[in-house]
This record gives sequence, C-alpha cells and structure tokens, in this order.
Amino acid sequence: MAQYPPIMKDKPVLLHGGDYNPEQWIGEKDTVWPRDMELAKKAGINTLSVGIFSWAMLEPEEGRFEFGWLDEVMDMLAQNGIKAVLATPSGARPAWMAEKYPEVLRVTEDRRRQLFGERHNHCLTSPVYREKVRKINTLLAERYKDHPALGMWHISNEYGGECHCPLCQHKFREWLKARYGTIDRLNDAWWNTFWSHRYTSFDQIESPSSIGEGTSHGLNLAWKRFTTQQFCDFYAWEIEPLRRITPDVPCTTNLMGTYPGINYFELGRLLDRSSWDNYPAWTGDLRDADIAANASFRHDLMRGVGGGKPFMMMESSPSAVNWQPVNRLRQPGVLTLQGLQAVAHGSDTVQYFQFRKGRGSFEKFHGAVVSHDEREDNRVYREVCAVGEKLSRLCAVLGSAPENKVAVIYDWENRWALDDARFGLNEDKGYELAVRAHHAALMRAGYGVDVIDQTCDLSGYRIVCGPMTYMLRPGFAERVRAFVEGGGTYVSTYCSGWVDEEDLCFMGGFPGPLRDVFGLWDEETDALDATQHNRFTWNGKTYEAKDFCALVHSQGAQVLATYEERFYAGAPALTRNAFGKGCCYYVAARTGEDFLIDLYAHVTKEAGLTPLLDDVPYGVLLTERVGENGRFLFVMNTVPEARTVVLPACTDAMTGEARGGETALPPYGVIAVRR
Ligand code: GLA
Ligand code: ZN
Repeated sequence: MAQYPPIMKDKPVLLHGGDYNPEQWIGEKDTVWPRDMELAKKAGINTLSVGIFSWAMLEPEEGRFEFGWLDEVMDMLAQNGIKAVLATPSGARPAWMAEKYPEVLRVTEDRRRQLFGERHNHCLTSPVYREKVRKINTLLAERYKDHPALGMWHISNEYGGECHCPLCQHKFREWLKARYGTIDRLNDAWWNTFWSHRYTSFDQIESPSSIGEGTSHGLNLAWKRFTTQQFCDFYAWEIEPLRRITPDVPCTTNLMGTYPGINYFELGRLLDRSSWDNYPAWTGDLRDADIAANASFRHDLMRGVGGGKPFMMMESSPSAVNWQPVNRLRQPGVLTLQGLQAVAHGSDTVQYFQFRKGRGSFEKFHGAVVSHDEREDNRVYREVCAVGEKLSRLCAVLGSAPENKVAVIYDWENRWALDDARFGLNEDKGYELAVRAHHAALMRAGYGVDVIDQTCDLSGYRIVCGPMTYMLRPGFAERVRAFVEGGGTYVSTYCSGWVDEEDLCFMGGFPGPLRDVFGLWDEETDALDATQHNRFTWNGKTYEAKDFCALVHSQGAQVLATYEERFYAGAPALTRNAFGKGCCYYVAARTGEDFLIDLYAHVTKEAGLTPLLDDVPYGVLLTERVGENGRFLFVMNTVPEARTVVLPACTDAMTGEARGGETALPPYGVIAVRR
C-alpha cells in the first residue's frame, strides 16, 4: 500500500480552487477582491492559481518590475487561509519583449515568424527568452520564498506547439549529432537512400515542413522526440531557480490529456506531481457514459504520467466552456460528478478554470465559479459549494492511490510512428480510440485500470493490454516476454510489432521479436471502410470485425475464433498462446465494445481477479483508492438515469452511514464508500 504526503505539506486536505486573475480587476480591487475572498471561502475553496498570464503586469517595461499588486494578492490569500499555486509567467509574454527581441517569437513549420499576440508561442531555444524567464522566475522565488501563501509552483501554462526558427534548427542538428554520431548512421536509420534523401552533412537537415521535407518518417519521429526534449529542457530551465531558492515547494506544469505534441511520460518524470486540464464535452444524455469513460481514461493516463502518485486536476470548467462546437450547460449533478470522478481516479485536487469570469476578451463567456452576476444563489456557484462540502468530507482519501492489477498501454512514440505510417486507414488509424476501447471495456467489467507506456515496469500487473503496439521500443519486447513467462496475461491486437524504435520494419515476419510469445505470424492486414465488416463467433456469440483485420497464422497459438467472410474466412480472429507460466491473447481485428467487454470478463476471471463490484450496470464506473485510512470504492453513475448497484457491507466515506446491499444512484450520482 502506498500512502503519499499531501501535495502542499501544510495543507493536508483535498485542494479545491482554480485559476484566479485578480490583476484583471485591479481598478476595482477594493470591492472585487474582498468579495472574491468571501465567495471563495463560502465555496470551500482553499487554493487559487495566480500569476499564470501576468508577465505584462509584473514587468510592464523591460527591467522594471512591479510586484506590489502580487504582494497584496499573496497577503490577501494568506489572511484568508488560501494557498497560492503561483505561476511562472512564461505562458504569455509582454508586447515590449516581442518588439525589442523578435527572436522570442515562434517560427511556424512553413518558416513564417509570428507576430505578437495570443499565448503559448515563445521560442524554446531563444537565449533572450530563456534569460528573461530565468530572471523573473528567480525574482518570484526570492520574493515569495517565505510567504505563507506559497503552496506550489505552476510552471508556465499548457506547454505545447513547436518552433522552427534558425536557433531551433541549430539545436535540432546538435541533438541529431548527439543521437546518431555520424551522418551515415542517421541516413541508415532514416532509410534515406529512398528518394535520394541521403544527407552528406548535418547542416543540410531542416525540421519537417510543408514547404520542404514532410514525408521522411525518421525525420518526423526525430523532430517529435526533439520537441519533447525541448520542453523537458525548458521546464528544467524554468524550475532551476525555484528548486534552488524554494527546495520544499513542489513544481508542476498543467498537461492536456492525450495532447500529441509532447511525450508526457518523459515530461511527467520531471514533475513533482502531474497535473492536467480536464474539459469533457458533457452531452446531458446517455452519451455521457462515453464522455465519462474518456475522462476516466485521461485521468488514469495523467496519473500514469506522474508515476502513479495522486495527481491534480488543475483545471475543469464549473459550467459550459466557450470553445467546444456546442457548449452545453452542465446538467445538475454533472459538476459534482466531474469533480469526484477526478478524486476517484487519484486526484487530490478539484480545480477550475476559472474562479471569476472576466468582463472582456476571448474567455468572457467561459464557465467560472463567480459569474458576471456575482451572486451566490446562482446554480453554478451553489453546485461549486456542494463540491467543496463533499471534498471536505472526503479528506481521508488524501494521499491514497489506486492499486490496479490491470494496465493498458498508451505510448506517445508509438502513436507518432503509427499516425505517420501510410497504410490501411490513412485518415485516422484510431490508435487513441483503440486504447480507450480496451480501457473502457476493462472499466465496464468492473476493474480500475492503470495507463502506462512501453517504458514502464510491467511486473506488478496481472493483465497488460497493448492495443496497436506498432512500434516496439527498446526493451519492451523483452519486458512483455518476461511478464508472460512469469505468469502474466498479455492482450495484443492487429498492427502490433511491425517496426523498431527507428520506425524500420522487422524482417522475418510480424510481430517481430514477439512472434513466439504470441505464437503466431501476422502476414497481411486488410483495411475496411465504414460500410464494410467481417465477423467471427466466440463462445456461441457472433461479433463484428471492422476497420482492421489482420490475417494471421497460428504458430502454436490456440485458435479461439475465425473470420467468417471474405477470402480469409477460416483465418484466426482470436488466439490464445500459453507461454511460460502466462499467456497471450491476440485480437486480430478491431471489434465493437460488446466483444471487448466479454473478452475482459473472461480474461480477468481466468487470471483470478475479482471485480470491484459484480454486475455493474451500463453507465456506472468504479475505481478504488487504497491508503492508510483504508480502501475507498468510488461508484459513479455517469448517465442522466437512475442506476442500482449492490454494495458489500461498508460505510459511506462522506457521511459515515452504514451502506450495503441494493443501493440506488440518482442520475449522475456518485458515492464513495470505505471497505
Ligand atoms: C486551457 C487554459 C486556460 C483556459 C482554458 C479554457 O486549459 O490553460 O488558460 O484558456 O483552457 O478552457
Ligand atoms: Zn525557435
């Protein structure tokens, strides 16, 4: 059992708060700020994130710093018992900096230098930008190091994008030299004899571009790896003064779920706690079952990125957002579900974007705790208060974490290579969808699930599922082999084991080094459009095969089901290979959820696992957190219809009442019980 310390050591409670921009109200600070404190406290808010986009207010002219207003904010937070998640301001820069030092502005892939504006668009290499960031971060740390409000550092905001300026090109070439040593090694790794692409010098290499090279998979992959390193390096640069001056204050940066541009498993290793911004597009109808399953997947992924520790839901919307195609209001109960769902998956925080709605500009109609009406009796504010109340009652879960025996693999490098590859379904090969489908089926079978990548340790799991592991990263095949030999169950699918870490195909038949572990040879893969299907029958039930159908030959694996149509009727659609003390399942085609639910009900039972509850009705999701205060089971009804579950004898973690037997869950209702 792992019990983690509170994120902020002098605030041992679940954190409730959000992004707060009091500087936008500086002209009315005597009335607005005290009212903010009053409304925050009434809603059980105990933390606020400040300074996120405040650079122009902190350094209005180069070298002229104005911390007075932030001093007042920090003092006000301390007086009200609220902790600050204090941001470094690099998420957006002042206009004077762009004007004086154009090198801080990003260059897009088509080699156009951007104008000043928007945010999240600085060059990560620019020595000027780095120096300015280092300076202001140092000043912030020195100024607030002993401030009682300082609880945590929020580094920048939603790192993302990429820069193709000459400085970044140079750094990329240096990175390539370090990785490949000689230009011929690079040429070989990237298969550059193809289309006469062999370089004779590193200086000839340019980052991928729509006006230049966009079709070299080796180049594209290297650039994505480099971009991840750029963010890791920039993060390390940002926190250097913070670590030095405030060694006890944890640091994080807010991530964005499955955002493709950064390998979050790499960046995550540098974070004291992972944190992320969660914006499900709740529909208000039965489709919320899928919306919620997707949010569950992302929570599990973000926890995995942070190494399994309790994480932070750093942002979520208290009401409709303003940037989705359709911005539905939250149905009553959804805000509570959204908050408690994060906690259920291991978040020790429920934070919002934003605390107070701005009056102008781009986000003036984005949901907020405090709306333009500034009232306490509006629907959203009252529900935020209810969440605050529930969190205060759930304190015992603080620092506990899921202890799942089942893991699903989601791997950024694999995704990059697979998305780039040209075969099968080129519009979208559906990697994320495939991983989510397996994750959702395991949850629907009643299990909590970890999401890990190919570099993670498999040894603590009973079942590991690797959908579409097209690329086998160094050491992964060996870890799968050892895992299965030792008694684990590994579930694989179509499009697995095709290429190595340089995106070069395995010779001698797919799935490359895992052929004997899976007991099969994957000869060809058929791609089906949305109107085309195949089918197979397993345990007397017929299921649909769609999108991808791999044509495999058993080389020792037991064939459990075969295709029923097309020229490959009779070829294996599902196999099981006993290997060492364990076994491998191979799902040769993409299927519907019905099959995956049945498969995992079978596989988990065979592996001797018991679900968190039996007979979970559709739309109900379960998780468990385990810590020194016990085992906490969360039961979440994610649909706008009542559901019933059967609970073992237990106590309600929020009310202390005895629970057990048939238990009704109202629409979107969540209960947490201690076993
Ligand atoms: C992101 C950003 C916030 C805000 C929200 C709006 O998560 O980090 O600054 O723009 O989106 O949903
Ligand atoms: Zn650059």
